[in-house]
Amino acid sequence: MELKRGYFITFEGADGCGKTTQIKLIKNMLDEKNIANILTLEPGDTDLGKSLREILLHYDKPVASSAEMFLYLADRAQHVKSVIDAALKEKKIVLCDRYTDSTVAYQGYARGEDIEQINCLNKIATDNLEPDLTIVFDVDSKIAQQRVGEEKDRLESEGLEFHKKVRNGYLELAKKYPQRIKVIDANQSIEEVFSNTKKIIGELLNL
Ligand code: TYD
Repeated sequence: MELKRGYFITFEGADGCGKTTQIKLIKNMLDEKNIANILTLEPGDTDLGKSLREILLHYDKPVASSAEMFLYLADRAQHVKSVIDAALKEKKIVLCDRYTDSTVAYQGYARGEDIEQINCLNKIATDNLEPDLTIVFDVDSKIAQQRVGEEKDRLESEGLEFHKKVRNGYLELAKKYPQRIKVIDANQSIEEVFSNTKKIIGELLNL
């Protein structure tokens, strides 16, 4: 099936929300329908991004939250320019695991960096490329923490209060941009969450 243009769909949520499972299910669905797509992620999809990801998730000395923010933005700039733009030009569907809203939720709402400034920096990093659709998987913070398990990276080690701030950040973003951002209750079973996700994406793509 040939689409008239590319579509950019981003998937968001606090750690442990189950989004990676859902994105894979969506990719399988598109593959079965022969709809050209790529699955990509932030941070770490490009060569440069892989080095940045290593620092972002595993650097074991203190990191200023503004420095953290710029590293995520650097990863994003490289990602848009070397992966996302090209795929959209080829009329593919880009399924992206985290994008601009992650920086607003994590570095803005949770770390306290200025949100208006993040919005400006996100615009610079992405050349104003906004998603056609963003799905936020919303899950109770305690359940999410259980899902993450024992082995935690730098961000996952932040604890319950941090997680709640991230979650609240996403819900605020969804209120602010109701056209673009759709929230799915991810406390439900994988099948139920997938059925809701499929419905929203189906509406965008006229499937
Ligand atoms: P990852 O292992 O990819 O987590 P997940 O599977 O939950 O997406 O790690 C990415 C981590 O980076 C995650 O904790 C969220 C965080 N993050 C930010 O803090 N800001 C950002 O802009 C992005 C893209 C991610």
